[in-house]
Amino acid sequence: MAQEINFSEINEDFNLEGKHAVITGASSGIGLEIAQMFARKGADVTAFDLEDSVELEEYVRNRGRKFLSCTGDITSKEVIADTVEAASNAFGKIDILVNCAGVGYLELAEDSTEHVWDLTMAVNLTGAVRMSLSVGKTMIKNGGGSIINIASQAGVVALERHLAYGTAKAGLIQATKQLALEWGKYNVRVNAISPTIILTPMGSMNWNNEEGEAFKQMIPSRRFGYPREVAACAVYLASDAASLFNGANLILDGGYTIA
Ligand SMILES: NC(=O)c1ccc[n+]([C@@H]2O[C@H](COP(=O)([O-])OP(=O)(O)OC[C@H]3O[C@@H](n4cnc5c(N)ncnc54)[C@H](O)[C@@H]3O)[C@@H](O)[C@H]2O)c1
Repeated sequence: MAQEINFSEINEDFNLEGKHAVITGASSGIGLEIAQMFARKGADVTAFDLEDSVELEEYVRNRGRKFLSCTGDITSKEVIADTVEAASNAFGKIDILVNCAGVGYLELAEDSTEHVWDLTMAVNLTGAVRMSLSVGKTMIKNGGGSIINIASQAGVVALERHLAYGTAKAGLIQATKQLALEWGKYNVRVNAISPTIILTPMGSMNWNNEEGEAFKQMIPSRRFGYPREVAACAVYLASDAASLFNGANLILDGGYTIA
């Protein structure tokens, strides 16, 4: 049954104390920043990534929060099932899921390869949807939760060389709406964040060049974003203060997509 939230009880500090967050792609870039900010706001963290992050483990534990590392490939159904089981068993429940694992290979449509299409769909779309389905079922059983999908401005507007990436992110935005529609009644909120270019290893790989400088001039705010700006948005969506946000796609792009 859906639980009524008493509006007067909302914590205006966007505190995440007592909550357990599973974050995919937590070893680098945006996911790492989200995991660190969540720990500062009081959440325990399960990090799911291809790579281990000793830096993140130390960071979370030093702030007195619990930490679980699940290393594995999100394209594997078995790995997802094992990760969700391990995270549920370790903490008793999962309150927040952030789907941040992603790849960012860009190619012109006429030069596109099956490898990039298949990998992009498997990680950026299917991996995130499978995680949402698996974790979402535990959230429904436990009375609610917040799922946050890191999509992209490329899922909202068309960009050069973004056939696979943009299509996967557009799919993720639509999956966000579908799940929000079906699970709102269970107090499971599903929202997306769609950033512009963010200065991470992935962002720098694709945009630290002349094309990036030209792109910046088309952004009304005339700059790219920082991982911490995406993390702040995720903290808000994860917190009880965002309890009426469901099915939203928060576009964090300095105004690039408004025109
Ligand atoms: N950086 C940008 O400009 C930007 C803009 C919009 C959206 N995004 C999205 O934000 C998310 C994070 O991007 P980032 O810039 O921090 O990238 P990043 O490369 O710094 O981090 C991505 C993380 O995902 C992990 N990962 C990749 N494939 C995986 C797999 N198969 N299984 C498990 N983990 C896997 C990587 O190991 C890495 O730690 C991605 O979904 C990306 O599409 C990034």
